[in-house]
Amino acid sequence: METKVLKASENSIKKAAKMLREGEVVGIPTETVYGLGANALDVCAVRKIFEAKGRPMDNPLIIHIADKKDISKYAKNLPKTLDNIIDNFWPGPLTIVLEKTDLVPKEITGGLETVAIRMPENQVALDIIRQAGVPVAAPSANVSGKPSPTKAEHVKEDMDGKIYLIIDGGDCEVGVESTVIDLSTDKPAILRPGKITKEMLAPYVKIESVVENVEKSCTPKAPGMKYRHYAPKAKLLVYEGVKKDVINEINKDIKANAFKGIKLGVIIESEHKNSIDCENVYDIGSELDEDEVAKNLFATLRKLDEDEVDLAFITVFESRHIGKATMNRLLKAASYNVKKL
Ligand code: TXA
Ligand code: MG
Repeated sequence: METKVLKASENSIKKAAKMLREGEVVGIPTETVYGLGANALDVCAVRKIFEAKGRPMDNPLIIHIADKKDISKYAKNLPKTLDNIIDNFWPGPLTIVLEKTDLVPKEITGGLETVAIRMPENQVALDIIRQAGVPVAAPSANVSGKPSPTKAEHVKEDMDGKIYLIIDGGDCEVGVESTVIDLSTDKPAILRPGKITKEMLAPYVKIESVVENVEKSCTPKAPGMKYRHYAPKAKLLVYEGVKKDVINEINKDIKANAFKGIKLGVIIESEHKNSIDCENVYDIGSELDEDEVAKNLFATLRKLDEDEVDLAFITVFESRHIGKATMNRLLKAASYNVKKL
């Protein structure tokens, strides 16, 4: 099968919508990361997503809608807080887990009685969903375990020969996946951190818990979070401490590894890149701009593989806002391999 990449346009959007209606899988841009979309109500189409990604069937998918009102088709027993939350954060990078209706096939929810729903903000995504006229199930469009795709070329890398069409809507603005909140119980929880933080949600819902590291708890609430994730082939080591000490330690470790025949890389903020004594320094963006760092994270991890880096040293990033989500993804990618100074 040949995989076409078409720039987003009236024509290509029409084509994508038609393919979705006909039960095919299409790579689509969203504001967070690229998704691998299929008609959520077509079980055969949904199975193709799992196949293309190599995703375990017990890891549920998010249903993407283009009209807030559609939520009541797929979710029931809606909590009172919901209207306010949707009014403030949809369309946008917030996924909400609710009790599912019978319309939602179990193939999407990994057998759970709950369903995750999101209305994306990206105009191309909204146009595709609207024109398809069906709800669109979409996980991130990477091969399971790899960093999520934030550019159409990342989707092509992972999905070449596995799907017919990718719509290129340019770089994803947010760069980390949506925040997932669980409103299906009376204890609202953040199951996956993202751009929408607990503090931003506070006026509308009291979040009782934030799942920071679901791998270490026995029964993961967001099943996807228990798998190895976001990881490049390179081994990653994260340095935690005062910046000056981190820089010294990284430079020391570069020297110590210099003649081992492995390729080293360093990921660091723009302000510090000139203090690092290594051939392959990756600028992740300004330490003053958490949004920029989030946007660049996955592309930078993919760049390590492209450059065949074997071992990469990385600083802890500022994490007051979206940085929490960035660090959550980075630590998973690094398998929690942290050097504390
Ligand atoms: O930003 C995003 O959310 C992107 C774009 C494409 O919309 N999608 C995305 O999907 O990240 P995916 O499949 O890679 O991640 C969905 C996460 C997984 O951790 C999954 O386990 C969790 O949401 N999830 C889905 N349905 C759930 C449910 N019913 N209960 C708990 N967690 C659920
Ligand atoms: Mg994913």
